[in-house]
Amino acid sequence: MEEKKILENVSLKPYNTFGVDVSAQYFFEAHTVDDLLWIVHHSLFDLPKLIIGGGSNMLLTEDFEGLVLKISLTVKWIEKSDGDHTLVSVMAGENWHEFVQWTLKNGLGGLENLSLIPGNVGSAPIQNIGAYGVEMKDTFHHLEALNTNTGEFEIFTKKECNFGYRDSYFKRKGKGSYIITRVFFTLTNKNHKLDMRYGAIEEELKRLDLEPSIYSISEAVCNIRMKKLPDPKILGNSGSFFKNPVVPIDHFEKLKDKFPEIVSYPAGNDSVKLAAGWMIEKVGAKSFTCGDAAVHVNQALVLVNHGNASGKEIEQLAMKIKQAVFDTFGVTLRPEVNIIGSTV
Ligand code: EPU
Repeated sequence: MEEKKILENVSLKPYNTFGVDVSAQYFFEAHTVDDLLWIVHHSLFDLPKLIIGGGSNMLLTEDFEGLVLKISLTVKWIEKSDGDHTLVSVMAGENWHEFVQWTLKNGLGGLENLSLIPGNVGSAPIQNIGAYGVEMKDTFHHLEALNTNTGEFEIFTKKECNFGYRDSYFKRKGKGSYIITRVFFTLTNKNHKLDMRYGAIEEELKRLDLEPSIYSISEAVCNIRMKKLPDPKILGNSGSFFKNPVVPIDHFEKLKDKFPEIVSYPAGNDSVKLAAGWMIEKVGAKSFTCGDAAVHVNQALVLVNHGNASGKEIEQLAMKIKQAVFDTFGVTLRPEVNIIGSTV
């Protein structure tokens, strides 16, 4: 059996897609369920903890005093298949995009619009990842998580996860108490429900001269993402930094009078979702910088690290953007990324 080792004073730069260089006092990578159970019962587990997967949805603003636990459990398989549907099971440390590609290779539909989203499978339910009209919850079946207080595994049904827009039980009541270890999805074997509500997908299929299918939609989505969104391997970033804010309809109507071209989507319950990227661009924030932290040229909702930006600088840039949007639109932007060590 391989020796289990807790490392000390480890740089977290390779473990976060912003590429921020802070260090962890203690660091342990769990490759197996056995590793996980070992660390959960270790005395260092009583320290403050930071659980990381692909590191694609967090901003580290200072050195982490405590234990950083990286979840690298892998393996994915088909649980069962009937005429129309297949239940797949995937461990938390699998890379999300590779998992999506694997489902497509198996002829399974439902995740094609979520192609190329950075990060690992275990983080996907925490913020209910979504793109191009589809959210993870649409194909989610249930998940298994380790309760860090009791050391027991628990099952969460879709209802218990309480998914919302970039939101779940694990960002609220369950925050800090669970390590997601395995996720189950129900995918289609045939009669796939192709979602092309997001206009750019149809345009891209026309350009590629391809008929709609789970494969061509995945290809189109990859192309759209590559045009708009920076590859974290090349330019540090964490996807959308802010959520698209939802405002009451009367607030929206006042804004619409002042800014007739404002981009919005109906959000039910007499409310409207506003495109934060549009607002950020409108206030001129595409030119804002703070050290090496900047706003992405093709998508203002994405903050980027041009080299050596510190987490604090990225956070300061975010605050500057938030203030400018508030001053112009009276709307408060809320971060989508998890800011670790934030004082604001
Ligand atoms: N827009 C601008 N300027 C910008 C960016 C956007 O004017 O700099 C306008 C666009 O022209 C468009 C509207 O704002 O009219 C919306 O832009 P886009 O379609 O790019 O989507 P988004 O609302 O900015 C959301 C998700 C993305 C997801 C896309 C596509 C959130 C927080 N973000 O962005 O998710 O890929 O829709 O579905 O909901 C992520 O979560 O990390 C992420 C990238």
